[in-house]
Amino acid sequence: MDLWQVLLTLAVAGSSNAVSGSEATPAILGRASQSLQRVNPDPGTNSSGKPQFTKCRSPELETFSCHWTDGVNHSLKNPGSIQLFYTRRSTQEWTQEWKECPDYVSAGENSCYFNSSYTSIWIPYCIKLTSNGGTVDQKCFSVEEIVQPDPPISLNWTLLNVSLTGIYADIQVRWEPPPNADVQKGWIVLEYELQYKEVNESQWKMMDPVRSTSVPVYSLRIDKEYEVRVRSRQRNSEKYGEFSEALYVALPQMSPFACEEDFPFPWFLIIIFGIFGLTMILFLFIFSKQQRKEN
Ligand SMILES: *[C@@H]1O[C@H](CO)[C@@H](O)[C@H](O)[C@H]1NC(C)=O
Ligand SMILES: *[C@@H]1O[C@H](CO)[C@@H](O)[C@H](O)[C@H]1NC(C)=O
Ligand SMILES: *[C@@H]1O[C@H](CO)[C@@H](O)[C@H](O)[C@H]1NC(C)=O
Ligand SMILES: *[C@@H]1O[C@H](CO)[C@@H](O)[C@H](O)[C@H]1NC(C)=O
Ligand SMILES: *[C@@H]1O[C@H](CO)[C@@H](O)[C@H](O)[C@H]1NC(C)=O
Ligand SMILES: *[C@@H]1O[C@H](CO)[C@@H](O)[C@H](O)[C@H]1NC(C)=O
Repeated sequence: MDLWQVLLTLAVAGSSNAVSGSEATPAILGRASQSLQRVNPDPGTNSSGKPQFTKCRSPELETFSCHWTDGVNHSLKNPGSIQLFYTRRSTQEWTQEWKECPDYVSAGENSCYFNSSYTSIWIPYCIKLTSNGGTVDQKCFSVEEIVQPDPPISLNWTLLNVSLTGIYADIQVRWEPPPNADVQKGWIVLEYELQYKEVNESQWKMMDPVRSTSVPVYSLRIDKEYEVRVRSRQRNSEKYGEFSEALYVALPQMSPFACEEDFPFPWFLIIIFGIFGLTMILFLFIFSKQQRKEN
């Protein structure tokens, strides 16, 4: 092993721990969701008092669920009086028959869950809410219009390279699709949006949507700490799903000796030669002094 290899091995060993670390920051996430809860009023307390649909969502184009608000007086006086009915168009015409919600339980309170047996794509559905027999809200949609995928998972990052000056670095961020989305067989095609910011900033920077599950992020400052998050949507759809947990990125502080194998410039050679040169000069200086003394 020559000197070069020894130095390189030491440098890589010393920096590898710092290079690919990644921990979400539960404390920050926890705080964020608390303040969100304060900002959004509880949807169950709408002043209009009537139950109404708040959201229908399909996470993977295979099942869907719809949620509604509880009217102000409802839960106290007439528990169980709200019902959801649905109808969907058969191949030729609307089957005018309204059927009741197949599952009021699985998606939580005030919701109706349609498992895969009840979910068809490219077929319009209409749903209505009734309270004591009277219709209070109604809406129509097709399942592919209400897709909002679950968050991507397993975010991680690796260092790509560091600028000559040691001030900026490029990283590659990777993730995995939401586990319930069948992207392997192509049942659903997703695209992803990555956002990042300095830990101390409040504004996220948005990157263009990509189809791949990894993307480079350029010119991050080595001396800053970053957060990265990713969300996905069905391709050609407008609505994104929820964001992934934030990935915390602290770039390794590069001393001239702590280089990656692909570090673009051998600074340490220059420094070694510098130290070597200085030693020589010192040596010559002392040597000449001693000679002078002897003379
Ligand atoms: C409350 O009801 C009003 C009137 O129906 C509606 O415009 C508003 O969007 C509802 N708010 C929520 C949070 O559901
Ligand atoms: C709720 O109850 C109050 C009084 O009990 C009544 O005046 C109001 O109309 C009710 N609202 C609805 C939406 O039923
Ligand atoms: C859907 O739910 C019904 C009962 O509500 C059940 O009989 C059926 O097996 C379920 N289908 C699937 C695919 O889980
Ligand atoms: C990220 O990748 C590194 C190695 O490449 C691994 O040690 C680490 O556990 C990964 N982190 C996560 C959250 O998967
Ligand atoms: C990383 O390397 C590429 C070319 O290999 C270069 O264009 C880019 O500017 C470098 N990144 C930094 C931060 O220097
Ligand atoms: C964030 O700001 C605080 C104080 O404003 C500072 O102490 C801290 O070092 C900053 N963190 C980063 C990563 O810049």
